[in-house]
Amino acid sequence: MSGIATAHGARSWLFVPGDSERKMAKACASEADIVLIDLEDAVAEDEKTDARVKVQQFLRDNESERHRLWVRINPLSSGLALSDLVRIMPAAPGGVMLPKPIGRKDVERIDHYLAALEAAHDIEPGTTGVIVVATETPHSTLATREYGGFDRLCAMTWGAEDLATALGASTNRTPTGDYTFTYQFARSACLIGASVAEARAIETMHGDFRDEAGLRTLARTASAEGFGGMIAIHPAQAAIINECFSPSAEELTKAHEIVALFAAYPGKGTIGHGGVMLDRPHLLRAEAIIARAR
Ligand code: COA
Ligand code: MG
Repeated sequence: MSGIATAHGARSWLFVPGDSERKMAKACASEADIVLIDLEDAVAEDEKTDARVKVQQFLRDNESERHRLWVRINPLSSGLALSDLVRIMPAAPGGVMLPKPIGRKDVERIDHYLAALEAAHDIEPGTTGVIVVATETPHSTLATREYGGFDRLCAMTWGAEDLATALGASTNRTPTGDYTFTYQFARSACLIGASVAEARAIETMHGDFRDEAGLRTLARTASAEGFGGMIAIHPAQAAIINECFSPSAEELTKAHEIVALFAAYPGKGTIGHGGVMLDRPHLLRAEAIIARAR
């Protein structure tokens, strides 16, 4: 299975620092659909070189899992991104997370770098996936509509912390703990931009990693809105996220009912059922739920 195929169904995307072999092994053994090995913020500046070596070795030692072992490289603006790729691509990760892209031009650059490195290391062309963190800078937050047309761009996520820093905000939360409008806007820009790019929208992390109930609420809300998955920062979050982004038995039963109903009345565009009107969008949504359960 390729990294891109894995990403298309991936619900939980678990971050793990790239300088910790112990945590990388734990993350790999977890239920996370995709493991995001971090070379960016989780690794201190003077540890980056060592971490690249560790990550390459870890990928080599876990060949059968590589489709779900992805690497967050440093942003293009850092000057470290190409050296990150040169180190990790010989070990063929399933994909790469690009933080802080300024817009389409950055994804174009990554696409070219990956094409060259795939050719250099006998990796099938176009099989290394890309996920962008689309809202970490003001520019990129206004550019989420620009990412269509890259076959390897399979997911898009968003972040509120770096954006708040860039905007000079002292907080991104309201007094009751919700994101302020600016960050909800960024979240929606990610959701809609991902759809434009035909990529999977991935909800940002819940940093309070012991708060299971809060995670469930956030994950269920995001799933209902059209997000396909969520970032995790602790292995215990992965199972909860997987559950919340999988259709429940009840949703599945309802979806099968709707599909059966339309099949029973071929040629009918609108059907009354249990006191509500069902039309084509309902049928498409039901079919999507059944597909998701597979
Ligand atoms: N991946 C793999 N293993 C992890 C993990 C992760 N993301 N988070 C925790 N673990 C491991 C711990 O190492 C510990 O294992 P051990 O008992 O064998 O030592 C076990 O799970 C329990 O951890 P716990 O005590 O609950 O948490 P912690 O205080 O050790 O770690 C964090 C808390 C936040 C430091 C840790 O969860 C983490 O490193 N998260 C990812 C951070 C990251 O990559 N950030 C960058 C993107 S935002
Ligand atoms: Mg960040």
